[in-house]
Amino acid sequence: MKKVHIKTWGCQMNEYDSSLIAIFLKRKESYFLIDSAKKADILILNTCSIREKAQEKLFHQLGRWRILKKNNPNIIIAVGGCVATQEGIKIFNRANYINIIFGTQTLHRLPDMIESAILSKKLIIDIINYKSIEKFDNIQYTITSTSRISSLVAIMEGCNKYCSFCIVPYTRGREISRPVIDIINEIKQLTRLGTREVILLGQNVNSYFGEYSNKKKCNFSKLLYYISEINEIYRIRFITSHPIHFTNDLIHAYSKLPQLTDSLHLPVQSGSDRILKLMRRRYSTVQYKVIVEKLKLIRPKMHICSDFIIGFPGETKTDFKQTMKLVNDIYFDMSFSFLYSPRPGTPASILKQNTRIEERKKRLFILQNKIIVQSKKLSSNMLNTTQSVLVDGIAKNDIMKLSGKTMNNRTVYFEGRHSCIGKIVKINITNVGRHTLVGKLV
Ligand code: SAH
Ligand code: F3S
Repeated sequence: MKKVHIKTWGCQMNEYDSSLIAIFLKRKESYFLIDSAKKADILILNTCSIREKAQEKLFHQLGRWRILKKNNPNIIIAVGGCVATQEGIKIFNRANYINIIFGTQTLHRLPDMIESAILSKKLIIDIINYKSIEKFDNIQYTITSTSRISSLVAIMEGCNKYCSFCIVPYTRGREISRPVIDIINEIKQLTRLGTREVILLGQNVNSYFGEYSNKKKCNFSKLLYYISEINEIYRIRFITSHPIHFTNDLIHAYSKLPQLTDSLHLPVQSGSDRILKLMRRRYSTVQYKVIVEKLKLIRPKMHICSDFIIGFPGETKTDFKQTMKLVNDIYFDMSFSFLYSPRPGTPASILKQNTRIEERKKRLFILQNKIIVQSKKLSSNMLNTTQSVLVDGIAKNDIMKLSGKTMNNRTVYFEGRHSCIGKIVKINITNVGRHTLVGKLV
């Protein structure tokens, strides 16, 4: 038996990939997962390169693992994910004690790579896959996780949008959608393990264009209708969607499918049309607002979340003001907001940065604080209301309480019987924090 430690950095897709790695390894009975790197025989680093100086962080981590390997030369170190896909052999050139480099599309072959590395004692490098759906083919009927009320289901991967700042199209490859039948079968199987909510996952879920068994194509809104026919699925969420594919038929689905929740993550990135152009986002702030307005006509209580990039090269005070105006107009509930970080090889990386870092940090701070104030306000609007809550388990900090999620994705703690878990209950909200609420069963 070999002890495996997996360390993950990055987006939800990376987290999801790590859970696939765990599944693929557990299928071979000779591996089991442990939390501590110190006691592991096999160390796996699954990394992200969307922001920050990912390479440096990676080599720091490898440096720490090198010390473990000095004490035990039999340790196998595998590096994978976006950085590995992008850098390949260069990682070995700087850290020649690693054994495996795997890509975002080859992780299903990792168990074989580990075996080869143990036998050959040579570097195994496998980062390119010409049939990228292969990874997903391998998860069919193999979900081994314990019963979970809310489960992630990848429906597509990759991105063809080539926003000028983003590395994802280069690391994850072109958009590729899983066949409809595979997704439906996986969700049905998850419901047998207790799942009542699915979170559909992909870099651009709404450009989903998967095949039916007869090879005809299915778009994202149609897929939502099919999933909603599975009786045991009470709620459907998805991350991340792109404004340019937020079509009228997708908006219309919100009037037909009560399973779709009242919280939407729709990244806008900036409130300045000039910056959006430089970012190559292919929509204007007006187009974005129209989508939100149409949705709010159907779902007045819809909460909107977004990603923002602050300090994009050339962002002026006026551009930033326009972003702040949009933040206020849409009344965003939450954001993933970061300073722009140049990514090697992307078109924006050659643009000149002429705003001082202090100024950029200040802008980010202003934006984040404004959104905090807004989300507190949105929470306080929920005081003394009755909410439909999908109960997902025992509260983390208080075993006497249960926890669940409202339609707009806030966590609620309340007292109730364990038999409520997996059901939708009505809760009166008696106390509010920014993202967590306290309530009483009605
Ligand atoms: N498909 C999604 C985004 C996926 S990338 C969309 O259409 O918006 C996740 C987030 O990382 C992006 O929304 C962006 O806000 C951020 N990001 C990507 N590249 C970045 C960079 N170079 N610097 C800072 N943030 C970046
Ligand atoms: Fe990145 Fe733009 Fe695609 S942000 S993931 S290139 S939609």
